[in-house]
Amino acid sequence: LAVRPVHGEAEVLSVEENAVLTQVGPETPGGELLRRYWHPIAAAADLQTERVLPIRVLGEDLVLYRSGNGDFGLVDRRCPHRSLSLTLGWTEDEGIRCAYHGWYFNKDGQCIAQPYEDTVGGGTFKERVKITAYPVEELGGLLWTYLGPQPIPLLPKWEVLVRENADREIAFTTLPCNWVQIAENGLDPVHVEWLHVNQSNLAASLQGRPPVVPSFRHLKIDFAPFEYGIYKRRLIEGDPEDSRDWTVGHPLIFPGILAQEHMFQFRTPVDDTHTLHIVYTVHSDGSGKTVCQELPYEDENGRPLDEYVVQQDFSAWIGQGDIAPRNIEKLGRSDRGIVLYRQMLQNAIDAVQQGLDPIGVIRDPAMNEPSVRLEYEGKSPHTTRLGDSLQFAGVKK
Ligand code: FES
Ligand SMILES: [Fe+2]
Repeated sequence: LAVRPVHGEAEVLSVEENAVLTQVGPETPGGELLRRYWHPIAAAADLQTERVLPIRVLGEDLVLYRSGNGDFGLVDRRCPHRSLSLTLGWTEDEGIRCAYHGWYFNKDGQCIAQPYEDTVGGGTFKERVKITAYPVEELGGLLWTYLGPQPIPLLPKWEVLVRENADREIAFTTLPCNWVQIAENGLDPVHVEWLHVNQSNLAASLQGRPPVVPSFRHLKIDFAPFEYGIYKRRLIEGDPEDSRDWTVGHPLIFPGILAQEHMFQFRTPVDDTHTLHIVYTVHSDGSGKTVCQELPYEDENGRPLDEYVVQQDFSAWIGQGDIAPRNIEKLGRSDRGIVLYRQMLQNAIDAVQQGLDPIGVIRDPAMNEPSVRLEYEGKSPHTTRLGDSLQFAGVKK
């Protein structure tokens, strides 16, 4: 990969290299990488109100449903008979039935009834009809799927997903941009000064209000690969060298999860230019309730929203274009984490092409039980400073 550090700066990607990292569809190298991980695709609560939901994930059009006997199914959206969308179908005990001529499919995608064929023939045609089907699991109030080959890896039990006596707020947004620029934000500590702090203070001053956040500067940033991704650390001007922002920090988990002690951001690629973004906030000492909401990124006039801090991030990611043109960037020393991430992303793609598991795939139950616990900076000077005035993600400013 042509990312070679030069005097503290780095060479940019070519157009072709950018395509390799950002394509998500079947049989693309990037899409094959993404097909080695579980992805959240919906709230479990969505299927309490609707029995059948259209889902687009990794460039594939599917339907998600809950059958009468309680199983989840995720299958090809088109009926293989004459292509009716199965979103028009309905669920029965064993699976989903097409509304046009009643062909009936179980959760493995096997056709188990073709009413007219069964009436007039021996009823064996259906044995030769099978549609694409993917596994679905429920964890932490979310429904997850895996679109890759057997053997299926374990669905990672990140501790926030299974924390007991906690309340959960889950905010869903489908963003009109590629997933990689969203993931890269997790390796970009410096943007906080500008996108969140200085921009918020400018908006306040234009409205004649005092600054909402004390401004600050990053003095040092550092990045460290670990078994699930990369930790980022920051030293803020005025903070001691032993501050947990600098000694611990928090990680980006491959392929694109931002992880903090009480808030994860999951990013599920919908297609090359859309991403399902999920802000997953956990409040300890709760009663176990889960609240889901749609979080918009723009108002009815198409203006970016910034009521929530994460909406400032949304506008930045969308503002880079549907797929950020990495071939025309000028990378500086603030971008060291991003350069490292791209190298590791390419390494992970290469590993899959060689038939190996990429970074962060969990197959050993001992690593996943009772949960995967990671270290975080917690309530550090930096998060306290921001938290007093600007709340991150899922919480209003
Ligand atoms: S199109 Fe689905 S049963 Fe005919
Ligand atoms: Fe941000």
